[in-house]
Amino acid sequence: MRRYQKRGIIAVLAGLLAGLTLLICVRRTALPVDASAHLSQQKLIALTFDDGPRRSTTTRLLDGLAERGVKATFFLIGKQLADHEDVVRRMDREGHQIGIHTFDHVQLTDLNQADFDAQVVTTRTLLKDILGHNDFLLRPPYGKWDEGVKKRAGCPIILWSIDPEDWNDKNTDRVVNMVVNQARDGGIILLHDIYPQSVDAALAIVDKLHAQGYYFCTIDQLFAARGISLNPGEVYWNAYP
Ligand code: NI
Repeated sequence: MRRYQKRGIIAVLAGLLAGLTLLICVRRTALPVDASAHLSQQKLIALTFDDGPRRSTTTRLLDGLAERGVKATFFLIGKQLADHEDVVRRMDREGHQIGIHTFDHVQLTDLNQADFDAQVVTTRTLLKDILGHNDFLLRPPYGKWDEGVKKRAGCPIILWSIDPEDWNDKNTDRVVNMVVNQARDGGIILLHDIYPQSVDAALAIVDKLHAQGYYFCTIDQLFAARGISLNPGEVYWNAYP
């Protein structure tokens, strides 16, 4: 009886081990091919998302990006952070890059120092409190910047090169087609993770551009792979070769 029990336990343990090994193998092979590729030798493109986080849409986007092994960059609104600390921590934990998109989504040009700080420094401090690091990019709302914004930014200013204006008609097919048609090595795509149609578009864009051999990376990864240093107060639109 005891012998049978012992054998039984060994059999169960062996079964568990085999199952676990199989699971790890399946998981490995299920990863996209580009997960282990050399960045410098590939067509690279960066997905960036503004105006979030918004729990329902951002969470679904993060799920879809995780399934596809894709890292993106999120430019967040400061006043939306309080209800979304867990979502922001998840972005960070899953390898996405995070940037500031002001506290209230205001245009940053022509602000005095106090008003600029209330928009940018306040958001930076909130993000630092949530994440424990302090290395956030800046994307000024409406892409508006001037010498004052450059002087006060305290970090690189990241704009974009591919803008399908997803907010305009929230038409998933149109957005997907426009981005895929304009995609090129070193590009920066602008989308908004606060619309369900944009989440659908983003995931379809990933699948279509994966099929064309693109590797999706964060802003830091994109510029590092191209040997371009990102400097505080400088404006960047793309990393085209
Ligand atoms: Ni915006």
